[in-house]
Formats: sequence, structure tokens, C-alpha cells
Amino acid sequence: MSPGAAKGAGEGRRLLISGNWKMNHDHFQAIATVQRLLYRLGPPEYAAAEVSIHPPFTDLRSIQVLLENDDPPIALGAQHCYWEDSGAFTGEISPVMLQKLGVRYVIAGHSERRMLFGDTDETVARRARAILDHSMVPIICVGETEAEREEGRSIERITSQVKGSLAGLSPEEIAGSVIAYEPIWAIGTGRTATPEDAQEGCAAVRTEVASIAGETAANSLRVQYGGSVKPANAKELMDLADVDGVLVGGASLDADAFAEIVSAVAS
Ligand code: PGA
Repeated sequence: MSPGAAKGAGEGRRLLISGNWKMNHDHFQAIATVQRLLYRLGPPEYAAAEVSIHPPFTDLRSIQVLLENDDPPIALGAQHCYWEDSGAFTGEISPVMLQKLGVRYVIAGHSERRMLFGDTDETVARRARAILDHSMVPIICVGETEAEREEGRSIERITSQVKGSLAGLSPEEIAGSVIAYEPIWAIGTGRTATPEDAQEGCAAVRTEVASIAGETAANSLRVQYGGSVKPANAKELMDLADVDGVLVGGASLDADAFAEIVSAVAS
């Protein structure tokens, strides 16, 4: 694909490359990482893809200030949020607080949140609702476990998660959202899905969105692939018809590796 080209037969789906830092990098490390990233990225990369970074909450303010000073086209992202605006919810972060920090994208229902912290399709849908209500964009994660894959239930799992996690959203809201297909067996394991698996999973997401919200929404919505994305496999994955970007974990912690992932689609 040439720089600046968009996917989706006239729908103009722009690639979105997101770095999910998970629980890594304190705010000093965060500043150093973003400074290095700014040094590595330039107009060809920014023309080829939209870039978002999702640091821990404690880094958001520092990075917001850094990005405001430099004003590069990098979007600030968060990894999670609660659905209430404020109140007695010890330890939670509200979408109002994220919006105030200039956050544009918020991940909802990452498999680690689903497995370790009790997120369900229902709570993911509530988070997505709140994120959209505060003019931000949800990146809703879905994906099957290794056991489900071995039982031949991958598509069934993806489909039911998409349906449950989008409950209550309008076709227009769905059209502007992002879904990340992240097979759990590929996350942090070094085992990337084959291009066939990635395409099949992302296409299954789009097919289900079409049945819930119509073809127009399905053609506008961006679907990312996630799971052991690295500079070496990024371009092949993003060239796939239904893959509109990548959600990168481990490789996004290193500014040079993350920059190479973006550069891969710029060249
Ligand atoms: P990984 O993580 O790139 O380290 O596999 C991806 C993710 O969890 O979003």
C-alpha cells in the first residue's frame, strides 16, 4: 500500500497503529520513550498511518504536555476506564478525567482485563458507551483462547464478543469505533497469528458488525490485529484486506521498534 492510502473501497479507513504499554514505564521512562519516538517519526510515517500511544494513567499528563509542546500527529490513548463520571469508586479512572487530558482512544476489554480483572462483554459495552459519550474512541478488544481455537470455536467466540461488547451502540457510533482482534494465544507469546488467521479473525469481526449495524458501519469501522506484532511482521499483517492497523504490546515499549513498525507501512 502506498503512503497515505486508505483501505475499504471508498470508505477511507486509515491505518491505526497503537502502542499498548500495559503496566510498564514510569513517567520518566515514558518521556524518554516518547522523545525518542518523536525523533524517529516524520512526515512519511505520519502520512502512512495514525499513531496512538497508551501509557499507564500515571504517565498521561507528562506525555500530554510533551505532545502539546511538540504538536506531532500522535494521539494520546488510555488502556482502560470506568463508566461513571465521578463518585465513590476507589481506584477507578473516569472518562471525564481522560477527556480532560486530551485522550482520544481508550482500550476497552483487553483480554488481560477480561482474564485478570473480571471484564465481561457487558462491562466492556458500558465502558464503550461512556467513552463515546465523552467524545473519545473505544478500541474494543476481542479474541479467542488457545483452547477455543483448538476446539474450532474461534469464529463463534469472536462473534459473540463483538455482539456483546457493542450492545447499545448506534450504527454511527460503531462506524467510528475500533475493534482489535487479539487471539489470546498470540499475546506476549511471540507466536503471531499467520496472515490467514489474522485475516480470518478480522474479517469475522467485520462480518458480525455488518449483521449488527449494517454494511456502511462495517466498511467504516477499523479492525486492528494484535498479538506479537513486531517490525518484521507488521507490514504483511497491515497489507491484509481486513486489517486496518495493529495493537502492539511488547514491541511498543521500545521507541525504535515501535517506530520501525510504523516505518514498515511508510516505505
Ligand atoms: P504483544 O501484546 O504485542 O506483547 O503480544 C499485544 C496486546 O496485548 O495488545
